[in-house]
Amino acid sequence: MSELVIKNLHVSIAGKEVLKGLDLTVEQGKIHAIMGPNGTGKSTLAYTLMGHPHYKVTDGEIWFKGENVLELEADERSRLGLFLAFQYPVAIPGVTVANFLRSALNSRRRAENPDDKGISIPEFRKMLKEKMDLLKMDHNFAGRYLNDGFSGGEKKRAEILQMATLKPEIAILDETDSGLDIDALKIVADGVNRLRSPDRAMIVITHYQRLLDYIVPDYVHVLAHGRIVRSGGRELALELEERGYGWVKELAAEQNGSAGKGPDAARPGAAQPAEKGAAV
Ligand SMILES: Nc1ncnc2c1ncn2[C@@H]1O[C@H](COP(=O)(O)OP(=O)(O)OP(=O)(O)O)[C@@H](O)[C@H]1O
Ligand SMILES: [Mg+2]
Repeated sequence: MSELVIKNLHVSIAGKEVLKGLDLTVEQGKIHAIMGPNGTGKSTLAYTLMGHPHYKVTDGEIWFKGENVLELEADERSRLGLFLAFQYPVAIPGVTVANFLRSALNSRRRAENPDDKGISIPEFRKMLKEKMDLLKMDHNFAGRYLNDGFSGGEKKRAEILQMATLKPEIAILDETDSGLDIDALKIVADGVNRLRSPDRAMIVITHYQRLLDYIVPDYVHVLAHGRIVRSGGRELALELEERGYGWVKELAAEQNGSAGKGPDAARPGAAQPAEKGAAV
């Protein structure tokens, strides 16, 4: 079983502590949704998992497939099976979508087998066309420079195209729904659902319960003030939609106040399965 285990994670950016003791276990094949107010550290968690150098881990541990993830470089984490669909994908002028994806795929294959000669061009083209059709993307995108001049929604589809090509074991989707119109949201969610598999876990960061109607999570967590303050099943997303985040902020303040007073107070991140109707 490949499980991602995050323990007591503390992360600072530009000298400010953003994550303050986050615990989360993502079991193989499960979908965990993370919701929470703006600026509470959701993207920070995503970047930290991928090894972005600006995010300094000051305490805690991250383990995946028996590896100490914090000791690995970003490319090694990717080869281990971690993938991030960015909230704000960056443009790479001069590198086409097709070339980018083929290099990424070949690098992954070579990591598994140093003698691998790489995917043949006809085989790659066929695969890419199938995946673009799945996401209802015009085939012209393959020849365009990555994210250069792409609309917000096109960028998000391009991120999922990368995920479909690389087939990660842990995919982190950071606000993949933002910027998508309602039809595109359904197409992208459908693409994501087709990538659901017992071998592929996902961390879906979103502000809107609507996405979770399409990509149904096993667990929902609320991140506030740098920690997971509440975990539950799907119904927690509905509760957030109804009640907003005011109560979450109060809960976070209370828990921060009681941090260290008892083991349970500091560890609400261990969720119960949704089907057991966990209200934590
Ligand atoms: N380079 C940086 N310099 C200074 N502060 C930063 C930097 N990057 C992030 N932060 C701060 O870290 C905090 C957490 O940011 P993060 O992007 O993780 O929030 P988020 O939960 O993803 O928010 P959103 O829902 O708006 O995407 C914010 O207060 C943000 O301003
Ligand atoms: Mg964010």
